[in-house]
Amino acid sequence: MAFPTQRPRRLRQSDTWRALVRETQLTLADFVYPMFIVPGAKLRHPVSSMPGVSQFSVDEIVGEARKVADAGVRAIILFSAPDHKDPDASAFLDPHGLVPRAVRGIKQAVPELLVWTDVCLCSATDHGHCGHVTPAGVIDNDSSVATLAKVALTHARAGADAVAPSDMMDGRVGAIRALLDANGFSNTPVVSYAAKYASAFYGPFREAADSAPAFGDRRSYQMDPANGREALREVLMDVEEGADMVMVKPAGPYLDVIRSVRKAVNVPVVAYQVSGEFSLIKAAAERGWIDERAAALETLIGIKRAGADLILSYFAPQLREWLR
Ligand code: PBG
Repeated sequence: MAFPTQRPRRLRQSDTWRALVRETQLTLADFVYPMFIVPGAKLRHPVSSMPGVSQFSVDEIVGEARKVADAGVRAIILFSAPDHKDPDASAFLDPHGLVPRAVRGIKQAVPELLVWTDVCLCSATDHGHCGHVTPAGVIDNDSSVATLAKVALTHARAGADAVAPSDMMDGRVGAIRALLDANGFSNTPVVSYAAKYASAFYGPFREAADSAPAFGDRRSYQMDPANGREALREVLMDVEEGADMVMVKPAGPYLDVIRSVRKAVNVPVVAYQVSGEFSLIKAAAERGWIDERAAALETLIGIKRAGADLILSYFAPQLREWLR
């Protein structure tokens, strides 16, 4: 007979009480903000499906990174959408490509900001897949891994603070670690998109990164949304191969996975609140159907409560204002 002895409402009776017993806190220090680079100069191109998010040319992204850092964000992750696309993803191997130039510019202008780079092939391949495609139309694992490692090295040489492979090829963490180490970059962390699901929530991002697959889908390399145990297999493999952090992506529909990954590994667990999760809230808020701030903070606290140590989110630059 708990009630009336037990009255949980006693600890909810004021802001002060609620703050005192709050189990989970959101702090800006936990956030990483994704940014998109496009070719050209003096360009800021709004992404129509992601209100408030733009693509920037290299010159413009440096100033924007300054603003993001001034908004209290400590880390960003860079994506790029090069014009030139070919089967080899050669735009991503160019030391003067969009990402290397942006990394150098940002590290020079905003040295305190941690700059991560996304490592994948999809925005630079003519078919839009995350790896190389054989004549039979199969995504070839091992040749893709070799290229991904070279892309990661290109980013490390430009001064990236961490490289984050998002391709979901098997063995890429180990290959990247080995190539970085062999070239003097043993201090560059690898943040692995370890449990990345074949999700319907990446749609808006594919506009921003110009990376939609020209044929088929990504289900032969990204994970089946039905699988939870398999995520543990993926993260344990990546930790074994040397991943410094492991990521679960998307975040909201996979809170159970975040929780079980948190229990299974001792490296930081990162969750990616992806473009579709962001745009759903933005779109409903634009229609007046939902309170943007309250809804966004609720999703983020849920991701944190599930066990994420860090969150990649397009809401990051708005947080300082919201958390005041
Ligand atoms: C590229 C990549 C994707 C995202 C991050 N890296 C898209 C995809 O796999 O198709 C999605 C991020 C987002 O939706 O915000 N491999």
